This record gives sequence, structure tokens and C-alpha cells, in this order.
Amino acid sequence: MPAANPAPWPRLWPDDFMRFSRLIEKRTGIRFEKRRTRQLAQGLYEAAARAGCEELDTFYNRLNSTASSSDAWNDLMAGLTVGETYFFRDTGQMMALKKHILPAIIEKNRDKKTLRLWSAGCATGEEPFTLAILLCEILPDIARWDISILATDINIKVLNLARQGRFREWSFRETSPDIRRRYFTAGQGGHLLVPRIRDMVHFAQLNLMESTYPSPVSRTQAQDLILCRNVVIYFAATLQPRVMDSLARCLGPDGWLLLSAAESAGLVIPGLKPQVFEGAVVYRKKESSFMQSLQKSSPGKESSRPSPARPAPGNRPSKPFAAGLPQNHQSPKEAAPQAAAPVQAHWDKAPAQELFEQCEKALAENPLCPQSHFTLGLLHAERGRAKEAIRCFKQALYADKDFVMAHVSLMQAFAGEDQKELALRHAKLAAGILAAMNPRTPIPGASGETADTLLHFIDACTTRKAL
Ligand SMILES: C[S@@+](CC[C@H](N)C(=O)[O-])C[C@H]1O[C@@H](n2cnc3c(N)ncnc32)[C@H](O)[C@@H]1O
Repeated sequence: MPAANPAPWPRLWPDDFMRFSRLIEKRTGIRFEKRRTRQLAQGLYEAAARAGCEELDTFYNRLNSTASSSDAWNDLMAGLTVGETYFFRDTGQMMALKKHILPAIIEKNRDKKTLRLWSAGCATGEEPFTLAILLCEILPDIARWDISILATDINIKVLNLARQGRFREWSFRETSPDIRRRYFTAGQGGHLLVPRIRDMVHFAQLNLMESTYPSPVSRTQAQDLILCRNVVIYFAATLQPRVMDSLARCLGPDGWLLLSAAESAGLVIPGLKPQVFEGAVVYRKKESSFMQSLQKSSPGKESSRPSPARPAPGNRPSKPFAAGLPQNHQSPKEAAPQAAAPVQAHWDKAPAQELFEQCEKALAENPLCPQSHFTLGLLHAERGRAKEAIRCFKQALYADKDFVMAHVSLMQAFAGEDQKELALRHAKLAAGILAAMNPRTPIPGASGETADTLLHFIDACTTRKAL
């Protein structure tokens, strides 16, 4: 019997399989099981040849020493990733989106008229364009809305195809003739998406294994809805929780996350609540108690301006300042004033008068104690004395210009006084400090809330024009 045609590329030795699959998993999350050795070998030898590397060793060193967004990685990932996708994929989820999820988001944001949607792992764009089409279908006054649809992928080749908005017949296997007729025109080499839909989506490269999200820089923060379907299913199981956690942190208050059915099966995502619709399980962000207390302090749901930071009696931040400081907190000014310590210890229990006295005493000993000024500010705000509160929060900032919660409190206090410009100024200053921090750093005075949740909160206040 004649021998079967040998593969056109040499075989991949077990050592090579191990080191390349480990490197790829570390950089991209994608796991190659032994049974996919042939696919990995083909992808590697072809990409190595295109990169001008005769030996796999040279190619390994190239990959290992360059960023995951380098040409070598881009080219390799174009050959190794599975880009299978089509419009209106998963009928159950599409119905849930059209009938429940998008209408709920629209209702919630109707006053501000902004929507933030993200398709993570968008491949050739059918998924984000489906979102754009759905919005056009259900939002009669769409022209009056400020809509951001972000679509990202690790594979730059598919992103370039997506930007063209040209699709093959295979992409339409779940699309009704009516939608095809209204949103596509027959063109050379495929069906062309009408420009008004094509222009609704912003494509960008983003590797879900990197810590570039959530962030205002990648425009991934404060999302109303994230679709990340059929992506982490290719990842090593141990890496999936990290991605889920980061995606959850990209959601704004009440935000929604959709995975594929296989990816959601039995999955628990901390901070998100599963919600069941006919034919779809989706996840929804639970509000943290701190954010709720901040939002509750707003004059009313209908009002577009929050009141000054005013922890309700019995609902004060449990640790108004240094007690919650991380060990490595850098501010010498915060480390210095030991006099504030008794105030921290008693915040939960002490009557307001006692706290006032403790702060005054601490300030008599150290007039530059930022925490004491801040606590006095909270006590004034609690009593509706906005002007005094503002004065105290400002004093806290004179003592420590990077005191984030003083900026946040000023943002709210100025918003409550209808001084929008000043409120925005402090929102920006707080966001600038938070964006430069490790997202998981607990923020002093914020009851254990971390840099990124506070950033979400500020972003939600500003992007939704709540200030
Ligand atoms: C099967 S497609 C899914 C497309 C679409 N979400 C859907 O469900 O129809 C998977 C996509 O995930 C992308 N991907 C794989 N690893 C990724 C990573 N680490 N970061 C971002 N995207 C990744 C691939 O390039 C591919 O385009």
C-alpha cells in the first residue's frame, strides 16, 4: 500500500510541543492539547518560515523576547486561533438580548442616552455588528443616542477583515432574509454591510490575557453589556477565572455579561449573578454596598445629580481612612499623623460629637492631618452642611493632594451644589490617580473598595452625565 502523504512540515518533537504550547498558553491563554499537535506544528512552521526563521529555536527565541502584539505573534495567532463566527449566533441569546437585556439597558440609560457595549473576541465582526443591527431594530430614536460598540480580538488579521464589513454567505446562516435585505448590499467578493451600521463599531486589538482592561485607555471600563462568547472555551481552565474576574470589573452598575452556553455551564463568577431567560443564561453585576450607599445618597433616582458624600447614620463607611490603608501606601503625609488613630478605631461606634472632638484634637496636634480633615468633611456632609464639608475636603487635599476619597467627596459635594465644572475637575483628578494604580488596590476611606471599582463609579457618574 502506498504510504499516506506526509505532512508538508516536519514533525514537532515532544520537547518543542511542550515549550511552544506553554509559551502560547502563557501569552494568549489558548491551550493546545496533545491531540492538536499537528495543528500547532503547521501553525508554527508556517509562521516561522514567514518570519524568516529557519530553525524553530530561533522562532521560539523571537516569540519569547517580543511583545504579544509584535508582528511575529500577530502572524502566529492568525494561523492558530479559531475565528468561527456568524451573525445572530445562538438564537436563545439573541432573543434574550432583543426582548429583555437591551431593552433593560436602554430603559436604565434613557435619561443620559448613552450605551456602552463590548464584544471581546469578536473575530471577523459578525457579533458586534449583530449588536448594532439589534439596536437599530429596537431603538427608534437611535440618532439621539451616544452609542459605543467596542469590538476587540487578539488576531489583527480578523480585525482588518471586520473593518471592511464584507461577509461571505456562511456568515448568514442564522440571518433572516428581511435583515439581509435591509442591512446588506450585494458587492464584489461578498455582502457589504451598510455604512451606517459598519461605522457604529470601533475595532481594536486586545489580548484578554493582558492586564489592559478594565481601563479608560482601552475604553473597556463601565460597560453596560459585554459579549465574550466562544473565546475562553479555548483557554486553559486555570486561566478562565482571571479573565472572568477582569471582565466583571469592566461592567458598570447593573452591567450584563454573556458567554456561550458551554462556557456558562455551572460557572460561578464572583460579583455577578446568573440570570436565566428562555434559552439563555446570562450574568449581571451585583452592586457593591459601598456603591449603593453612594448612590442612595443621591437626592432621588430621577435626579441627575448626586448629593454630596453623605453616609447615612449607621451606614457610614466602616473605615473612613488610614485603618484601611494598604501596607505599601506611599503617602508620607498619611503615614505620619498617628494622632488620627483613635478616630479610625471608633468611627463605627462613636457618636458624631465624639468624632468631631477627636478630629479637632488630632488637628490641634497636627494641622496637616488629611484623614482628620476628611472625617470632619464626612461629618459635615452627613448633616447637609455642604460648604463646611467642601472646606474640610479641600483641607484634606492641601495636606495630601493624592487623597482619592477627598477628590471623590468633592466631586459629589460640588455636584450637589450644582457646580458642575468643579465636580468634573475632581472626578478627573480622582480618575487620574486611580488609573495609575494597581486596579486591585483598596482605597483608603472607601470601605475596602478597590481602585478599579471606584474608577467605574466615577466613570459612571461622568459618562452618564450624572454630574
Ligand atoms: C470562535 S471566535 C468567537 C467569535 C465570536 N465571539 C462568536 O462567538 O461568534 C474566538 C475568537 O477569540 C479570539 N481570541 C483567542 N484568544 C484570545 C485572547 N487571548 N484575547 C482576545 N481574543 C482572543 C480569537 O482570535 C477568535 O477570533
